Amino acid sequence: MSNETTGAYLQVDNLVKYFGNDKAVDGISFGIPEGAFLTLLGPSGCGKTTTLMSIAGLHTIDGGRIKVGDTVFTSPKEGLFLPPEKRDIGMVFQSYAIWPHMTVAENVAYPLEIRKIEQPEIDDRVADVLKLVGLTAEADKLATNLSGGQQQRASLARAIVSKPRLLLFDEPLSNLDLKLREQMRVELKRIQNEVGITSIYVTHDQSEALVMSDEIIVMSKGKIEQRGGPVEIYSRPVNEYVSNFIGVANLLKGKVLEVNEPGQGLFELAQDGKQVQMPCQLSPGIAAGEDAVLSVRPENVHAVREKDGDTTLEGEVTFAIFLGSHVDCRVQWGDFEWKVIAHPRTRLKAGEKVYLKFDPEHTLAVQP
Ligand SMILES: Nc1ncnc2c1ncn2[C@@H]1O[C@H](COP(=O)(O)OP(=O)(O)OP(=O)(O)O)[C@@H](O)[C@H]1O
Ligand SMILES: [Mg+2]
Repeated sequence: MSNETTGAYLQVDNLVKYFGNDKAVDGISFGIPEGAFLTLLGPSGCGKTTTLMSIAGLHTIDGGRIKVGDTVFTSPKEGLFLPPEKRDIGMVFQSYAIWPHMTVAENVAYPLEIRKIEQPEIDDRVADVLKLVGLTAEADKLATNLSGGQQQRASLARAIVSKPRLLLFDEPLSNLDLKLREQMRVELKRIQNEVGITSIYVTHDQSEALVMSDEIIVMSKGKIEQRGGPVEIYSRPVNEYVSNFIGVANLLKGKVLEVNEPGQGLFELAQDGKQVQMPCQLSPGIAAGEDAVLSVRPENVHAVREKDGDTTLEGEVTFAIFLGSHVDCRVQWGDFEWKVIAHPRTRLKAGEKVYLKFDPEHTLAVQP
C-alpha cells in the first residue's frame, strides 16, 4: 500500500519511534495536501499521539523523515531536528491547556505577543479570531470561568491566531459531553475549513472521524491498516480489522472460490455444517482459493419472508427491536447470528423464519 502523495504539503516517510524496546510507531508513511483535514483513527495505544508529537517535535524519532512544505522538520539519518518552537504549529489537546490567570483575549493574544507583533494588529487579529470561534462576548472573562466547550474554543482560537502552517488536534472533544461533542465536531470542521490550515486530528471515536475528515488513516499497533475518505473506509474496508473498527459488520470466515472480473468473485461460507456461496467484491490482493473474511454491513442484509431465486440462506429471527426509522434484528443461522437492519414496514418478529438476501455490490471478501 502506498501512502505517498505526490507534491504533498506534509510528508511523513517511514516514521519509527521506540519507547525502550517497544515500537510505538512502526514505519508509517503518509502525505497530505495543503489545507486538508486528515484524521488518525485507532484504538488506545496504537501510536496516534506519538505520531502527532513526532510531527510537533515534542518527541525525537528513531527513523524516518518529516517534512512540511520545503522545511525538513526531522530526519535522524541526516542529523536534522528542528526544535518545536521553530516548526510553527498550532496544537489543541484534550485538556484545555489555557492559562487560568489570563482573560480569554489575553490567552489568545499570547502567541502574537511572543512574536513581537504590534499591539493594534494583535487587537485586530484577536477580535477576528474570537468572532470566528464565537467568543466575542467572553473576551474579557477569565479563562477559568468558561464552560468546557468555550475553553476548547479558546484553545482553538489561540492555536490558529498566529496562522500556523499546521494544526494538530489530539482528542480535543473527548472531555465534553456527547451533545456538545456532536455540536463541536461540526463547528470545529467549519472553522478549519474557513481558516484553511492543514490539520491532523487524532481520535479513537469513529463517528467523529467519519463526520469531520477529508481522509482517515486507520491505525493499529503502530502501523497503517487503511487510508481513505470516510465513504471508502466505511463501504470498502480492506480487512477484518477495519471492518470491525468502523461501524458494525457481519464478519464470517470462508474462502474465495473464484475470481471473475477483477475485484469480483464468488465466496463460500461454511458455518456449522452449512455451506453457502455468494457473489462478492474482493479487497485488493485476494486471490482465488484463499481464505478470507466475508464482511457485510447490517443495512446491506435483506431479510424477507418468501423464498425466491435471490435468497441465499434461511434463518430464524431471534429478536427484532422497532426503532422508528428501522428495525434492529438478529437472525440465527447455524451458530452465527446475523445483524440485520430491516425496514419498519417488514414487521419482523422474534421466532419467525426468514430468508436473507445479499447485494453483491455490498458483500465484501476482505483480508483476515
Ligand atoms: N512517553 C512514553 N513512554 C513510554 N511509552 C510510551 C510513551 N508514550 C507512549 N508510549 C507507548 O507507546 C504506545 C503508543 O502510545 P500513544 O500514546 O501514541 O497511543 P494512542 O494511540 O495515542 O492511544 P490513546 O488513544 O490511548 O491516546 C503505547 O504502547 C504507549 O504505552
Ligand atoms: Mg493518545
